[in-house]
Amino acid sequence: MRRFLVIVFLWLFLLCLTYSASAETFTCLACHSAMKGKIRTEGGTVIDVNVDSERYATSVHGGFDCLMCHKQFSLNPHEPAKIGNIPKNIAALAGKIAHKAKVDPVALAACTECHDSVYNMVQESVHGKNVIEKKQSDGALCTDCHGSPHYITPKSTATSLVNKKNIVKTCGECHENENLAKKYDFGTHILDRYYESFHGKKYVIGHPNAPTCVNCHSYHDIRMWDDPKSPVAWDNRTATCGKCHKGATKKFVTAITHKPIGKHNPIPYWFEKGLIVLLLSVFAFIVGHVVIEAFAEIRDRVFRKGGGH
Ligand code: HEC
Ligand code: HEC
Ligand code: HEC
Ligand code: HEC
Ligand code: HEC
Ligand code: HEC
Ligand code: HEC
Repeated sequence: MRRFLVIVFLWLFLLCLTYSASAETFTCLACHSAMKGKIRTEGGTVIDVNVDSERYATSVHGGFDCLMCHKQFSLNPHEPAKIGNIPKNIAALAGKIAHKAKVDPVALAACTECHDSVYNMVQESVHGKNVIEKKQSDGALCTDCHGSPHYITPKSTATSLVNKKNIVKTCGECHENENLAKKYDFGTHILDRYYESFHGKKYVIGHPNAPTCVNCHSYHDIRMWDDPKSPVAWDNRTATCGKCHKGATKKFVTAITHKPIGKHNPIPYWFEKGLIVLLLSVFAFIVGHVVIEAFAEIRDRVFRKGGGH
């Protein structure tokens, strides 16, 4: 009897093992791990067809079937799934973010099945609203901050894009982008100002408590800085800075701003503008003067030959 039980347990164990790397994933990877390089579809989208099976297996989602996210495919590769296979909430979300997705909006929406509270927060954030309400594709959704969904590793690992060591660079991908900065008026100076600050300097040398962007702004719930719910809105700032600076006062919290010049700080802003105008007029005066002088010289030489001073 005991031996029988042992055999049953072993059998169950083996069944679990084979189940975890299921037939579906094998089917997809048979092509997608063997294919290398990029393909341009008829629509002009460039697709990286390769999925590195080893990296996939060691990622946080490595145990999942491809179809858990790519719900619109059926096992027969790329044949549409049976209607009704895609849960209603995912289909609806996929519709709202379709313009942001590169190839598969359903897969991009499928994260909500397991991370629904995170997804709800992101939808309400300045980044999510940019995509869903403003219908732009500039705001960040999951894969902009976490990278390819096939290779996500825990945030504590060095390869994670949201690891403390990498997060400033990850936000910088967009917040240093000139076109976006112009379009949304946030300026490309933010990272420079951060690195110049006490905080940025401590961050670079690896101070364990130095704040990065997400300690002040939060991450899934990022808001416009003047949104009353933003942790950096005036009324919340003493609490936010107070997490690390015990007893931070209203006066103390004005010490940090990314914008010594700009719309938030009108005095230095107009002071700088004034200085530029002054400098330009002095320059124009000098140039004008030199030109007139030169003309006078030519005139003298050409028309008053023989004359002179
Ligand atoms: C017979 C080989 C083959 C198999 C099996 C296969 N694919 Fe593909 N897949 C391709 C090729 C080739 C492309 C390149 C673009 C194209 O032709 O659509 C591609 C493209 C894709 C794309 C990009 C979007 C698109 O529609 O082009 C996704 C996503 C994808 N495959 C997922 C899967 C999943 C999930 C499975 C398993 C259910 C799978 N594939 C099985 C060959 C395959
Ligand atoms: C955790 C969810 C998830 C799982 C699991 C997953 N994918 Fe994806 N996959 C995505 C998302 C999201 C995208 C990007 C969709 C977009 O932007 O349109 C994507 C994109 C792709 C692409 C296109 C790559 C490109 O250039 O954008 C291929 C090919 C692909 N997946 C194949 C697979 C295969 C094969 C598996 C199983 C081994 C798999 N995926 C498992 C979520 C997933
Ligand atoms: C079928 C359920 C499921 C789906 C769908 C899914 N995830 Fe996950 N995800 C998990 C599980 C389980 C973990 C690991 C448990 C944990 O550590 O929270 C995880 C962990 C994560 C982590 C945390 C890594 C860390 O720091 O520990 C991120 C980020 C993540 N998933 C992003 C995504 C994104 C983006 C998508 C959509 C493309 C997605 N997930 C789709 C189940 C899912
Ligand atoms: C603006 C960037 C950004 C976006 C967009 C984003 N994340 Fe994150 N996410 C982060 C950061 C940063 C962390 C790690 C925070 C930390 O250090 O604890 C994180 C952590 C996580 C974790 C680990 C649990 C936790 O809360 O720490 C999960 C799961 C996760 N994200 C899922 C998602 C999913 C799903 C989406 C899309 C709906 C998403 N994220 C969109 C930045 C982002
Ligand atoms: C010590 C806290 C702190 C850190 C760290 C921090 N911020 Fe800020 N951030 C603020 C405050 C306070 C504001 C409010 C506006 C101001 O005074 O500049 C702000 C405003 C912003 C704005 C809006 C600026 C505008 O002019 O519209 C953006 C975008 C921003 N931060 C991004 C970032 C990024 C990206 C990082 C990481 C490199 C970061 N922040 C790091 C506190 C911080
Ligand atoms: C995929 C690009 C992208 C990434 C990655 C990204 N952002 Fe943004 N962010 C934007 C865009 C675009 C806006 C402006 C959205 C709008 O106004 O509609 C924005 C707005 C903001 C704002 C509000 C600006 C204001 O005027 O108050 C803050 C704060 C912010 N982002 C911080 C961050 C932080 C912190 C990270 C990293 C955790 C990050 N962002 C990652 C694109 C991005
Ligand atoms: C995650 C923790 C953290 C947060 C949040 C934080 N700081 Fe700091 N701050 C630090 C650390 C660490 C230092 C370096 C202290 C040292 O080495 O003595 C520092 C230094 C400073 C300094 C330099 C002078 C001093 O007192 O040491 C100022 C000013 C400052 N922070 C202001 C702010 C303001 C304003 C906010 C909120 C907008 C803020 N900090 C939020 C951790 C934080």
